Amino acid sequence: MCGIVGYIGTKDAYPILIKGLHRLEYRGYDSAGVAMIDDKGGLNVYKSKGKVSDLEAYARDKDLSGKIGIAHTRWATHGEPNDCNAHPHYSQSENLALIHNGIIENYAIIKESLISKGYTFRSTTDTEVLVQLIEFVKNENNCDLCTAVQLALSQVVGAYAIAVIEKGHPETIIAARKSSPLVVGIGNDEYFLASDATPIIEYTNKVVYLADEEIAILTKGKAIKVLTIANVEKTPKIQELELNLSELEKGDYEHYMLKEIFEQTRTVMEATSGRINVDMDNIALCGFIDNKERFLKASRIIITACGTSWHAALIGKYAIEEFAKIPVEVEYSSEFRYRKPVINASDVVIAISQSGETADTLAALELAKENGAFLFGICNVVGSSIARMTGAGCYTHVGPEIGVASTKAFTAQVQILIMLALSLAKEKNTIDNGFYRHVLEEMFTLPKKIESILAQNDKIKDFSRIFTYASNFIYLGRGYNFPVALEGALKLKEISYIHAEGYPAAEMKHGPIALINAEMPVVVIATNSPTYEKVVSNIQEIKSRKGKVIAIVTEGDEVASKIADYSIVIPDTVECLVPILATIPLQLLSYHIAVAKGCDVDQPRNLAKSVTVE
Ligand code: G6P
Repeated sequence: MCGIVGYIGTKDAYPILIKGLHRLEYRGYDSAGVAMIDDKGGLNVYKSKGKVSDLEAYARDKDLSGKIGIAHTRWATHGEPNDCNAHPHYSQSENLALIHNGIIENYAIIKESLISKGYTFRSTTDTEVLVQLIEFVKNENNCDLCTAVQLALSQVVGAYAIAVIEKGHPETIIAARKSSPLVVGIGNDEYFLASDATPIIEYTNKVVYLADEEIAILTKGKAIKVLTIANVEKTPKIQELELNLSELEKGDYEHYMLKEIFEQTRTVMEATSGRINVDMDNIALCGFIDNKERFLKASRIIITACGTSWHAALIGKYAIEEFAKIPVEVEYSSEFRYRKPVINASDVVIAISQSGETADTLAALELAKENGAFLFGICNVVGSSIARMTGAGCYTHVGPEIGVASTKAFTAQVQILIMLALSLAKEKNTIDNGFYRHVLEEMFTLPKKIESILAQNDKIKDFSRIFTYASNFIYLGRGYNFPVALEGALKLKEISYIHAEGYPAAEMKHGPIALINAEMPVVVIATNSPTYEKVVSNIQEIKSRKGKVIAIVTEGDEVASKIADYSIVIPDTVECLVPILATIPLQLLSYHIAVAKGCDVDQPRNLAKSVTVE
């Protein structure tokens, strides 16, 4: 949700800022802008509606000099995406320029008060209010920029990651955060600033993650200084990044999403790497082992997440309840945080988040913490806010996921949850040893099995084209495949803009069946399971109403594949691991339909990868 980049040092800032914006474009892409202080101290702001490439075209003939600058790629919250509302925003005198990720909730009151003092506004954003407030406070108190930022932020309610620069002061960037992420990269005589580490990694692997309500003062030739808004000095904790630059490139793939789908043969190994022993009779999930007692004492587990991560959570519920016999509740973070849930100190609350920055999930954790629950995080981004807040947890270790639609992170989340369920079950003695070992052995066969699914890519691409006509899709699955149906439908909606609904297959007769006609494609996950025959009956019901069926079936299937119009075969495995295999053809199906429709699959309209606002 909005990407922030900053640079101060000895190099030209503009190319570094633009490259950084491209790396962060997955966070938002409705407008972009840069502000730089040129060699004479002048503060220049260039911004435009559209993607970073539109900004580059616009800025081509401008003065792009300067060794200090800040830049922004926007996902609109307050104010429509246009040139005016793009960041950076100038203050009234044009002495300050500011970029912001987050939402200033009390912006209306502050704006009204500033208007009464003679301030005028060029945009309809909440952000412009903040830069005007900083300037007002600075003038009123005759103080430096850092103090003005501290004073202004102490009046602000909401979430922010900001960076501000001042005309005539090419030596300093002031940055601050609360509830929105911000990382400072420390190079040789230079500092980088970004919403996540991806724009920084090619220059330095030394970073400082700012904590809530911290302000960083980045001054050329001086050590980084970190203060709180209340002016308490903090010792910056310099950490080393373990990110690999090649992971950020698209390679030979047309889109990041396709690359990430294909990477799953590797990422399913990485998620288990070092966690399952060679004898396949033990799982070592450190976050679990260190906090085993809390889990074993729990009378229930609550899993909270959003979007795709919520679908993984549902699979986790099925596995934990089946194997460990602990009741699990799965909650949308956005609902959980506001619906006054009962949370006990004996509860374990697991947050699942690829980005580790989703604002609603962070707030749900905050609530759980206030109520004394034990917090556990399953995140992909190392050092992200949720990972730091939970303190205990597991990383999915799939490397950066850049396509906005989540793919490889989902399959790894499911693996972690299955490993957690098995670990709990073993501790509680609720699982047969032979079965435990069998699941682990099956886990190791996943890469080969995924390869055989990916080998059907061309076939899936061919028949996907037929479905570009559709304006609706239904996805059906039962048991562990119900969350797969939800995830398949979400993938299609996200990137092809075709309306799709995931349903438990048996619920079809209570509504969705009314929608079925010759125009309606229905994806049915009809893999081997105790309910296979019942799902086959659902396929018959669809066919007798002339619906088009795409079936996901298990190798050797004799029945469903014959009735369906199209079928995709997946290898057999234990039921709890089927979602990992069954999801992959659905990712490919959505991808190819979206590409055939000419959609921008990596940056679908209105979406953002990391949702750091409510
Ligand atoms: C956004 C993304 C989804 C993602 C969801 C939750 O909506 O577009 O792909 O599933 O946020 O994100 P998280 O990072 O918390 O998993």
